[in-house]
Amino acid sequence: MYDKILTSLSYGMCAIGSKGLTAANACIVNTVIQISSYPMTVAVSINHSNFTNECIRRTGLFTVNVLSENTSGAVIGALGFTSGRDGNKLDNVRHKILQEGVPVIQEDICCWFLCKVVHSVETVTHTIFIAEPMAGSESIKGKPMTYEFYTKVIKGKSPKFAPTYLPEEEEILEKHTCTICKFDYIDPLIPFEELPDSWICPICGAPKSVFRKME
Ligand SMILES: Cc1cc2nc3c(=O)[nH]c(=O)nc-3n(C[C@H](O)[C@H](O)[C@H](O)COP(=O)(O)O)c2cc1C
Repeated sequence: MYDKILTSLSYGMCAIGSKGLTAANACIVNTVIQISSYPMTVAVSINHSNFTNECIRRTGLFTVNVLSENTSGAVIGALGFTSGRDGNKLDNVRHKILQEGVPVIQEDICCWFLCKVVHSVETVTHTIFIAEPMAGSESIKGKPMTYEFYTKVIKGKSPKFAPTYLPEEEEILEKHTCTICKFDYIDPLIPFEELPDSWICPICGAPKSVFRKME
């Protein structure tokens, strides 16, 4: 399917620190990009289901911690596969808390910066937070970890709420087919039933009501 071509895109691995209601939180992302230099602006894409999304919305602040090739897989496991809603993920991850209440990870990262949200954009699944760095480390240590290094060297995977998540073939249990153009809707992140009534077939524009569930 054409979704596989997106695996050709390159990404860097980061941890996003945020302030929860009772404790600091952090999650792994591979979607931090630089938007501009003047003003210095970055963006990050955070799934609506992640606790981090809620934390950033409430405070308008987050840290970007750029992981290095020396950051251990255990840190990625702790921050990328469990939610801050279910407990304090930073209990076993060395960190400090800035006066703004957001954490800076201290586990062999390259550098960090504190960001203030200036704008946000909603997609069906994610919020893109656009933000300006306000403070950060003065130098870069080590080699930034790329997503390719994570998948090929560490042999890491992406969980369900990561933008790069692709289901294993056997996980695809059902599909809905457009009775007009035969386009198959197969998406584990948004079940067909949860798509809005206004959703239309991306190929022929037919309404959602013409789709039929295929066994
Ligand atoms: C390699 C990798 C990349 C990820 N990239 C993102 C991302 O860009 N955006 C996102 O919302 N979640 C991403 N995730 C998933 C979150 O880190 C994960 O859902 C985490 O448990 C969310 O924690 P929270 O609920 O405490 O925010 C990624 C996870 C991994 C392991």
